[in-house]
Amino acid sequence: MELEKARKKLAEAGSVAILTGAGVSAESGVPTFRGEGGLWRNYRAEELATPDAFERNPSLVWEWYDWRRGILAPLKPNPGHFAIAGMEKKFDNFLLITQNVDGLHAKAGSRKMVELHGNIWKVRCLADGKVSDNHETPLKTLPPRCECGSMLRPHIVWFGESLDAGVIEAAFSAARDCEVFIVAGTSSLVQPAASLAGIAKESGAYVIEINPEATPVSGMVDASIRGKSGEVLPLLV
Ligand code: OAD
Repeated sequence: MELEKARKKLAEAGSVAILTGAGVSAESGVPTFRGEGGLWRNYRAEELATPDAFERNPSLVWEWYDWRRGILAPLKPNPGHFAIAGMEKKFDNFLLITQNVDGLHAKAGSRKMVELHGNIWKVRCLADGKVSDNHETPLKTLPPRCECGSMLRPHIVWFGESLDAGVIEAAFSAARDCEVFIVAGTSSLVQPAASLAGIAKESGAYVIEINPEATPVSGMVDASIRGKSGEVLPLLV
C-alpha cells in the first residue's frame, strides 16, 4: 500500500534526489565499519580514518585501505545500485547523494552523483591536492607516491575533516529543490547527510525511506518502507 503510493509519487515526479548509505551496498557483500567484521588487526575505523593516524603512520593507514580495496575490488553492484543508475535517465532533474566510498554506484553506471565522503578508488596528492583514479590492488608501494614524488593519501573525508563545500552545496540544493526525496540504507546518524531528508520534507518534497530498520527519520517521512534496498528499489522504479 505504502509502496504503491510511493511508486505513484515517483512516477509523477520531475525532480528526484536520493541519499544512500552503507545499507545499499550490504547486499553486495560490503563489510561494515563497525562491529566485529569491521575490525582490522585490533584497530577500529575511528582509529585509522583520521588525519592524526595518517600523520603518525601513513603506511599503517595505507595498509588498511589497501586491505579494504582488496575486499571491495571483486564485489559487484546489486539490483538496488542498478535501479538507482536507471533513475538518472528517467528524471529531468536527478541527483544521487551517497555517503559510500566503495565506488559501486559508479560501477552500476551512476554518473549524476556526489560522493559526500569521497571514494576509496581515488587518491590525492599531498603537495598540490590533485585527485586521480587509482585501481591498483594490492598497491605496489606503501604509501603510494604521486608522479611529482609527494605522498598520496586516500581521497576520503576522515573523522574530524570537513566535507567539500561544493559537494555539500549540491546535496543541499538538490534536497531543497526536489519533488521526491529517497533516503535508502543509511542509519541517518552522521551529519550533515542525516539532515537532508528533513530539509527536503520542509521544502515540500515527498520523502520515502527504505531501510529494514527504523531510524531517527522514520517518524518524519511520508513513506517508511521496511525492506532491503536491493529488493525495494527495483519495485519502486
Ligand atoms: P550505517 O552503517 O550507520 O547504517 C547502515 C544502515 O543500513 C542501517 O540503518 C541498516 O539498518 C541499513 N541496512 C542494512 N542492510 C540494508 C539493506 N539491505 N537495505 C537497506 N538498508 C540496509 O551506515 P551509514 O548510514 O552509511 O562515514 O553511515 C554513515 C557514515 O558513517 C559512513 O559514510 C561512514 C561512517 O562513519 C565515513 O566514513 C566518513
